[in-house]
Amino acid sequence: MVVNDAVRAAEPRAAGKPARVVGGEGHDVRKAVFPAAGLGTRMLPATKAMPKEMLNVVDRPLIQYGVEEAVASGLSQIILVTAAGKSAMEDHFDTPAALVRLLQKKGDTKTLAAMHAIDTMAQVAAVRQREAHGLGHAVLMARPLVGDEPFCVFLPDDIIDNPEDACMAQLLRVYERYRCPVIAVERAPREDVSKYGILAVQQVEPRLYRVEDMVEKPSVAEAPSDLAIMGRYVLTPDVFDALDRTPPGAGGKIQLTDALRLLLETTPIYAYEYVGRRYDCGSKLGYLQATVELALQRPDLAHDFRGALEDALRRA
Ligand code: UTP
Repeated sequence: MVVNDAVRAAEPRAAGKPARVVGGEGHDVRKAVFPAAGLGTRMLPATKAMPKEMLNVVDRPLIQYGVEEAVASGLSQIILVTAAGKSAMEDHFDTPAALVRLLQKKGDTKTLAAMHAIDTMAQVAAVRQREAHGLGHAVLMARPLVGDEPFCVFLPDDIIDNPEDACMAQLLRVYERYRCPVIAVERAPREDVSKYGILAVQQVEPRLYRVEDMVEKPSVAEAPSDLAIMGRYVLTPDVFDALDRTPPGAGGKIQLTDALRLLLETTPIYAYEYVGRRYDCGSKLGYLQATVELALQRPDLAHDFRGALEDALRRA
């Protein structure tokens, strides 16, 4: 289901919040899949009735950070994988006509432009995952909308901040060279490896690796390296057949890492150690760090917020 009319409305881009392309314009990948059907248990009770992906960071929901990164990477079609009770995400990218009429009547052109900028950022469509059978299963739900073309996957609870060179744009440049799946990686502290998918690799050049094996949430002793898979992927459509063949793995879920491991039997896969600051907004600490650090970067807030923080620290 397409939830907004961005394709018709996109040009010229509205004033307000421009989604600037910052390095991903040279590829032919168009689609970005956002698995967002999980239960968000780590953020309970905030996520009891509210989708985790709609939690506010500074002044916009988590999902918008990911969509802005997709647009900055040259992607134009957003596919949300949602679930019952999570339609607020679709609503966020589609301003109701009645609200538009009200703002027009009030002459509030500034708010109107800001709403229009969100609606026209990209074309947004949604599919459902009926039950949270895992990240791999969520990606498989997007198959009818992705079709037979390469696509990107964004885990919306990871904000990866790099205003000069969007994380996905960095991955897409690797994809352009090799035309193979590319996974974003970061070095994890040894004691944290069991939280992530971990890679065994051959280094190709600085920051770039050819993947030799991967394992989801290994014990510290079993982990083949400290290179951990983070929430950004460029994938080729053959991953869907691999997902079809993937049995439940860690936690009884269909894991994307397990499907990529199957794909590795026939297709080279690359890993890229991206440049950027990642915030795990699916955890309480990461969410708070994102809120504070991103607010401190905002010219309209930084000065007063810094003062308030210093004051709070003095009193703590
Ligand atoms: P997470 O494991 O971080 O999200 O999955 P979760 O399951 O919602 O959260 P916790 O662990 O219970 O707190 C990463 C992304 O994959 C999506 C989630 O919505 C999240 O954006 N996901 C996960 C799905 O879409 N479907 C699933 O079955 C699992």
